[in-house]
Amino acid sequence: MSALVPPPLSLYIHIPWCVKKCPYCDFNSHGQSGALPVDDYVAALVRDLEQDLPQVWGRPVHSVFFGGGTPSLFPPEAIGAILDACSARLTFHPGAEITMECNPGTAEHGRFEGYRAAGVNRVSFGIQSFDDVCLQRLGRIHDSAEAERAVKLAQDAGLDNLNLDLMYALPGQDLAMALHDVERAIALQPTHLSHYQLTMEPNTQFFARPPQGLPDEDTAWDIQEHCIEAMAAAGYAQYEVSAYARPGRQCAHNLNYWRFGDYLGIGAGAHGKISTGATGEIRRRWKPKNPRDYLATAGTAAGIGGDDPIAPENRPFDYMLNALRLVEGFSLADFEARTGLDRAVIAGELAEAARRGWLEAAGGRIVPTELGRRFTNDVIGLFLK
Ligand SMILES: C[S@@+](CC[C@H](N)C(=O)[O-])C[C@H]1O[C@@H](n2cnc3c(N)ncnc32)[C@H](O)[C@@H]1O
Ligand code: SF4
Repeated sequence: MSALVPPPLSLYIHIPWCVKKCPYCDFNSHGQSGALPVDDYVAALVRDLEQDLPQVWGRPVHSVFFGGGTPSLFPPEAIGAILDACSARLTFHPGAEITMECNPGTAEHGRFEGYRAAGVNRVSFGIQSFDDVCLQRLGRIHDSAEAERAVKLAQDAGLDNLNLDLMYALPGQDLAMALHDVERAIALQPTHLSHYQLTMEPNTQFFARPPQGLPDEDTAWDIQEHCIEAMAAAGYAQYEVSAYARPGRQCAHNLNYWRFGDYLGIGAGAHGKISTGATGEIRRRWKPKNPRDYLATAGTAAGIGGDDPIAPENRPFDYMLNALRLVEGFSLADFEARTGLDRAVIAGELAEAARRGWLEAAGGRIVPTELGRRFTNDVIGLFLK
């Protein structure tokens, strides 16, 4: 065994409600019916955090991410109360990235000033497309004009670190339409773009009844290749399967996940992963998924949905599931520090991946080749025990 070195720590905060459920989405998100129990949920998050604290005594928090669901359904006062409670109980690293996801259909004038005053310094917008017909087919609650207005409201409030989520391979979409979406996103000058291929996730409306006119895999690959070029030409370099950033603007929070960093997860259905150097243990903990159960149990024994160690034999797969998504790949020294395992345990799989032309050694790192990037899931599958 190598020594397990505790990596940077992040904090994920889940807000599980949306105005309405999108037909493609399998996130733990629930359509809103009536007023949200905002105050009760804030209090539950604080109880939840307090219960998790002993796992991370003394470790600074490098990033915070409010994900959902739709965190922008919560008013700035609630986001501020959550951040105040967190920073009173944890040490935030100076300059910590604090991201909030926002659905453009919930953006109201004046709110972004409040989020910024509360401590949010990065906003991630779920834009999906700028084509109003596509947006309707996706069941979105906003049109393209509202999306553009929302981004400008955030910029006017001084929030300059913005991500826009786009999806591609949409029903009825061709290459020209997908490129047009990317161009409209770039025109808004965000610092970061996420470009996700629409996938049919089990337990969604789209999985049960797939929409008409979905592009085939070759078209989807063609779209991705051309969009990568368009983003690169505009200064957004790909650094992960779906993530593109201006120099120095990669998402610190997601990078920490992909580099097999540690994170606390609070909120309904949130997951955490914590490494303990002294014991060599890596544990995953998760919280009850249903918001009602979460509200009733947060901070009690029943408020821990599960807490399992990651067995040493499963660590290589877990590590690769994250690291092989990155263009930068990983170094063998990082693999050892983050898994507590010797590099020898993956030597056979690495040799096989190299033989298939999926991975190569470059500059002291193991990086996916172009072929490896096309077959990311197969490459990761090699490490499954
Ligand atoms: C939690 S949502 C973002 C914030 C907010 N809920 C919204 O949708 O505006 C995260 C992102 O995941 C992406 N996503 C969700 N379901 C997807 C799917 N089935 N296929 C591809 N991307 C998906 C969307 O781009 C979405 O913006
Ligand atoms: S995509 Fe976003 S808005 Fe739509 S249901 Fe999922 S989390 Fe909610």
